[in-house]
Amino acid sequence: MTETSRIGLIGLGTMGANLALNIAEAGHRIAVFNRTAEKTRAFHAGAGDLAPRIVPTETLEAFTAALEVPRTILLMVPAGSAVDDQIAALAPYLSPGDILIDGGNSDWQDSRDRAAALAAKGLLFLGLGVSGGAEGARHGPSLMAGGAREAWQGAEPVLASIAARFDGVPCAALFGEGGAGHYVKTVHNGIEYADMQMIAEVYGLMRDGQGRDAAGIAEVFAHWNKGPLESYLVEIAAEVAATADPGTGRPLLDVIADRAGQKGTGRWTVIDAQRRAAPLPAVEAAVTARVLSGEAALRAEGQKLFAGEGRLGPLEDDALASALLAGKVLAYSQGFTLLERARQEEGWSMPLDDVARTWRAGCIIRWRMLDDMAGALAQAKPGKPLAFAPAFAELLSEHVPALRKVVSTATLAGLPVPALSAALQHFDQLRQARGTANMIQGLRDRFGRHGFERLDRPGESGFHGPWADGED
Ligand code: 6PG
Repeated sequence: MTETSRIGLIGLGTMGANLALNIAEAGHRIAVFNRTAEKTRAFHAGAGDLAPRIVPTETLEAFTAALEVPRTILLMVPAGSAVDDQIAALAPYLSPGDILIDGGNSDWQDSRDRAAALAAKGLLFLGLGVSGGAEGARHGPSLMAGGAREAWQGAEPVLASIAARFDGVPCAALFGEGGAGHYVKTVHNGIEYADMQMIAEVYGLMRDGQGRDAAGIAEVFAHWNKGPLESYLVEIAAEVAATADPGTGRPLLDVIADRAGQKGTGRWTVIDAQRRAAPLPAVEAAVTARVLSGEAALRAEGQKLFAGEGRLGPLEDDALASALLAGKVLAYSQGFTLLERARQEEGWSMPLDDVARTWRAGCIIRWRMLDDMAGALAQAKPGKPLAFAPAFAELLSEHVPALRKVVSTATLAGLPVPALSAALQHFDQLRQARGTANMIQGLRDRFGRHGFERLDRPGESGFHGPWADGED
C-alpha cells in the first residue's frame, strides 16, 4: 500500500503553493490538488528537493484517497462561494471526523455558518486566518484559527510546525469556535489598513510638506526601523521608498499611481465595529482614505478649486516618528477594544494577550511593540483600552504631544492626515471627563422629546426641558 499523506491542500495559487512547500519542508507528506491539473503538475515539477514529499493528484477521489484518515484538508481557494463549491465537491469523498480548514481571507460569519453546517454532517471545520503574504506562507505565517477544539487538536501539529516563531513560540492559536479565527484575521487587516495609512500620511508630509525625495524618505524609515517603530511595515516602507523603477530609473514610488486597492477586509472590520458600537476611528479613516484615493479626477479638480493652503511649519524627524508611534499604538488599542467586544458578544475564548502574541511574528502587522502589548493585555482589566495600561499610558503621555503637533501643523498646511488625526481625536475624547453630549441630548429632547438623564438625579431618566410645546 502506498504511503498516505498527513495533510492535503487544494488550491495552488500563490498562497496555497507556498504553504504546500512550507508544509513539505516541515517534514510532512502532503497531497495537493488544483482545479487545473496542469498547475498541479507544474507545481510538483518545480518543487525541487521537496517534490518527494508532495503527492500531486488530479481528481478529488485520488486526492482524498491519498490522505491519512481522519483527513486533514487545507482549502486555499478564493474567499466566498468558491469555498462552498469546493466543500460541496469534496463532500462525497469525506468521512465523519475529517477536518476541513479554510485558509482564505473569508468573512468570519461565513466561517461560523460553515462550521455549524459541517458539524451537522460530522465534519470538523477550522476557519484559519493566514497572514504574512507569499513570503510568510512559504517560511512562516501567523495563523489564527477558529473552530471546534477537536479540529484544532487534529490540525495543530502541522499548523504549529509551519508557523512563524517568536522566541521559539509558534504564532498559531485557536481563538474560539466557528468564525473566531477569521474574525481575528479581519481585525488584523483593519489594523493593517490604519498602520499603512499612517505610514503613508507621514510619507506625504515629508514629500509634500518638506519636499524630500524618495531616497531621503527611505533613509528616515530605515532609521526609524531601528527603534521602537521597528516593524515589518516600516521596514518595507523603507524598501519601497528606496526602490528604483527598472524601466525609467525614477524612484518607484514616483511612478506608482496613488490609488489603493482593497479586497474588503478593512471595510468588514469597520462595518463589524459599527454593528457592535465599538469605536474604530483610525481604521474607518484608513478605509475612507482608500476609497477617496480612487477619486483621482475629483481630487485634481478639488486641488484647482481650493488651492493655496499654507506651508508646512517645521517638523523634526523625531516629532514625525513620535507621532507615528503614538498613532500606531492608538490604532492597535482600538483594534484590541473591538476584539474584546467581539470576544464577549460571541463567547469566544480569545485571550487578547494570545492574539498579540500570535501577531508578534509572521504577520503583516508584526511589530516589536506587540510583545509589550501582549504583556500589558495579560494584566489589563477586561474592558479597559490597551492605551490605559500603565506602560502604554506612559508611552502615550510621552509621544502624544508630538502627534498633536504633527496633526495640527499638517492641518494648518492643508495636508491630510486622516488616520493620525482620527486616532488623536479619539484619544482626546477618551480623556474628556465632561463631554459635550449634553448638548446633543438637549437638542434631541427639544425637537423630539427624547428625554435625558440629569447629573443631579443619577439613576433616573426621562427628564425633559421646559420647552413651550412640551406636554409636561
Ligand atoms: C496578510 C494580508 C493579506 C492581504 C490582504 C490585502 O495578512 O497577509 O493582510 O491578507 O495582503 O488581504 O488586503 P487588501 O487587498 O484589502 O489591501
